[in-house]
Amino acid sequence: MAAASGHNARLLALALALLLAALHLHGVVCDPSHTHFAMVSRNAPSWRPDRGGQGKDNTTLTIASIDFNGYGLGAPSLAGFVDAFPDLALFHANSNNFSGEVPDLTGLPYFYELDLSNNNFSGAFPATVVPLGRLLFLDLRFNRFVGTVPPPVFDLTVVALFLNNNGFYGNIPDNFGSTTAEYLVVANNQFTGPIPRSIYNTSANLSEVLFLNNHLSGCLPYEIGLVEGLTVFDAGGNDITGPIPLSLGCLGLVEELNLAGNQLYGHIPDVLCALAKTGKLQNLSLSDNYFHSVGRRHCLELVRSKVLDVRLNCIPNFPHQRPALECARFYADPPQHCPFVPHIPCDLPGFRPPAAALPSAVAAEEGGGGGGGGN
Ligand SMILES: *[C@@H]1O[C@H](CO)[C@@H](O)[C@H](O)[C@H]1NC(C)=O
Ligand SMILES: *[C@@H]1O[C@H](CO)[C@@H](O)[C@H](O)[C@H]1NC(C)=O
Ligand SMILES: *[C@@H]1O[C@H](CO)[C@@H](O)[C@H](O)[C@H]1NC(C)=O
Ligand SMILES: *[C@@H]1O[C@H](CO)[C@@H](O)[C@H](O)[C@H]1NC(C)=O
Ligand SMILES: *[C@@H]1O[C@H](CO)[C@@H](O)[C@H](O)[C@H]1NC(C)=O
Ligand SMILES: *[C@@H]1O[C@H](CO)[C@@H](O)[C@H](O)[C@H]1NC(C)=O
Repeated sequence: MAAASGHNARLLALALALLLAALHLHGVVCDPSHTHFAMVSRNAPSWRPDRGGQGKDNTTLTIASIDFNGYGLGAPSLAGFVDAFPDLALFHANSNNFSGEVPDLTGLPYFYELDLSNNNFSGAFPATVVPLGRLLFLDLRFNRFVGTVPPPVFDLTVVALFLNNNGFYGNIPDNFGSTTAEYLVVANNQFTGPIPRSIYNTSANLSEVLFLNNHLSGCLPYEIGLVEGLTVFDAGGNDITGPIPLSLGCLGLVEELNLAGNQLYGHIPDVLCALAKTGKLQNLSLSDNYFHSVGRRHCLELVRSKVLDVRLNCIPNFPHQRPALECARFYADPPQHCPFVPHIPCDLPGFRPPAAALPSAVAAEEGGGGGGGGN
């Protein structure tokens, strides 16, 4: 990666002056919140393209990677520094005290990995990042960015996109579903509006998505059930409402599903709970909502085995539920009337086969506030 085999005195002097451009090739992700996203391997990601310095003149010192992770550095601006290395492919500055403008890296033809996490950047989403067509890894988490996220961010062909723990607000753009990301985290911001229905369009690539702790609202979209590759879906701590669409029973790879701390209601369907047996489901968090019943065949068993947490709901005769009066008030005037979508867009032995109606036709049906039958 980092060929330092040259005689270019000017660049060498520059490099030495920097002292810390030590070309560490092993990124260390420090994640003070212990968000489970820290699992993203930074050592030898399989997605890194081969950049063996194709056809480059190796009599010039080239720096392909700068890694400042955790040096406790501060600088009023990185502009004029990072952008001065034409061969730079990776810049890691995790856990320092950098602030100011995010440098314009659009002139760096090989650049594909930017980690500015856990610094002190503020202001609007860094516009200079948006045109980086080759970016594979963008990590802006744990800064003080504010404002809306420009829709083109979701058109970047990234594998990982971390925007969490900033002050981003506004709707999550409708083109969200265009993202190619496998790991996408927008948690712990101030986003409002619904989870975009375009999420279905992320299809095979999206594996872990964290919406938790924002102010998202609207109905839980049926389209989530179409994202076959999901392993972690976390939308806890928002204001999302409506019943659980039966399509979620199609998430055969999902291991963790967190919808706790929302305003969901209706029935917790067996078709979802069955995933603990037929799929990979290990943790289904539905506490602190307004569900009124659980599937008898599979869900009850998950409550017993503590895979399913249903505390603080409205389920009669279950321990640790909301006061009956609070539940009655909620059901008398739910935050939003959401359609119940009974369609199951996959073949599930033991459950009713997909209804004849198309999802769009079913979605238009009014399913009733109680939300759902015995599936
Ligand atoms: C790069 O250096 C190697 C070994 O020093 C040499 O064999 C090779 O020809 C050089 N390539 C170029 C493009 O100069
Ligand atoms: C971070 O940098 C700012 C100025 O850019 C400075 O005021 C602050 O003290 C620094 N914080 C630490 C922990 O060094
Ligand atoms: C961030 O920068 C501000 C000044 O710009 C400073 O007061 C603050 O201490 C910095 N935060 C950290 C964590 O260093
Ligand atoms: C689906 O994603 C592709 C890019 O992968 C995009 O071109 C298209 O506009 C998206 N469609 C919708 C409806 O979001
Ligand atoms: C997955 O992402 C890669 C780029 O990282 C892209 O080439 C591919 O088309 C994506 N697949 C889908 C199904 O979106
Ligand atoms: C299940 O997920 C919830 C929400 O993400 C988390 O708080 C809880 O610790 C998890 N339980 C286990 C046993 O991992």
